[in-house]
Amino acid sequence: MSEEKKQIEIIQAAFREDFERFAPLRTEINGLSLADAENFSRELAELKTRHTGKKSEIAGAKKLIGRVAPEDRGAFGQFVQTVEKEIVSAIEEAENNLKNFIAGAKTEREKLDVTLPGRRPRVGHLHILTLLRQQIEDIFVSMGYAIEDDREIETDYYNFDALNIPESHPARESQDTFYTTDGFALRSQTSTVQIRAMERRGVPLRIIAPGRVFRRDTPDMTHTPMFHQIEGLCVDKGITMAHLKGTVAEWLRRLFGEKTITRLRPSYFPFTEPSAEFDFSCFKCGGTGIFENERCRPCKGSGWIELGGSGMVHPNVLRACNVDPTVYSGFAFGFGLERMCALMYELDDIRLMFENDVRFLEQFR
Ligand code: DAH
Repeated sequence: MSEEKKQIEIIQAAFREDFERFAPLRTEINGLSLADAENFSRELAELKTRHTGKKSEIAGAKKLIGRVAPEDRGAFGQFVQTVEKEIVSAIEEAENNLKNFIAGAKTEREKLDVTLPGRRPRVGHLHILTLLRQQIEDIFVSMGYAIEDDREIETDYYNFDALNIPESHPARESQDTFYTTDGFALRSQTSTVQIRAMERRGVPLRIIAPGRVFRRDTPDMTHTPMFHQIEGLCVDKGITMAHLKGTVAEWLRRLFGEKTITRLRPSYFPFTEPSAEFDFSCFKCGGTGIFENERCRPCKGSGWIELGGSGMVHPNVLRACNVDPTVYSGFAFGFGLERMCALMYELDDIRLMFENDVRFLEQFR
């Protein structure tokens, strides 16, 4: 029997040696990387097959039990069983510990902190010009005006003739106005909508017409070949220059505050008579020309901001729209949105508004 027992002891010693690297895994596992643990796990599985599988030495050793003398068979059988149990439970403990450790490490790796702030999608917003336009539209709508929209490609008739702009007028030169190859003009002013609106709606009427206009200007800090204007037109019986002045004063007060004052300066436009340019007291320095002890920037120290043109609608314009100038009168005004925007936000270069650089655009929401 001692011969057979020796064989079992050899098997036991071989296992112990083989298992030595894994022995620490039977107790708590610390300081192991997930990758190392997974390697251990794979190697342990191989070791398990080697030492407990059908072709393992211990499985083969069981056959020895029958060869031992009957009186020793019980003790020998028990010994084999003890060794087998040692092998199986050592492997099992290491296996279980590894399995737990790997599961824990994976959970740790995939751990999600639900209290972290999410990544916000970048939400767009309206363009600086749209925002200002809407603000002005709201003011006029509250004053009983309708918003009128019309075409950007016009005939010379609407762009010039009906607006009392004579054939010889410099604005009609193709150096100043864009023409399509078949002779249409890209409107150079929103005043065209005065004619379109009176034809379509008749009088009395009160409208503003925001829109794009086009001029053959070389782009620079204060010019772009496309820009925006807002046109205003009010026609009714008994409309006078006082209504013009009151209207201009009121919408500018609503936009820039109660203290804003307005002035009209005599001027000339073919489609108005008399004509005036309108200015308002600077929104930054309040008309003093000085801001924080320095020359105020938007008004260049003058205290006034020149905004646009205006006047009493010329009788020829009314006649072109089949409106009797002995019965009806009206006022009109127009101004550029980009220039106004640039002054309000102290932008040196109006081209910024069309370059679509979000770093610029994002600043105005
Ligand atoms: N259309 C003119 C321009 O582009 C601005 C203007 C002046 C509009 C006088 C008007 C007005 O309605 O009455 O410079």
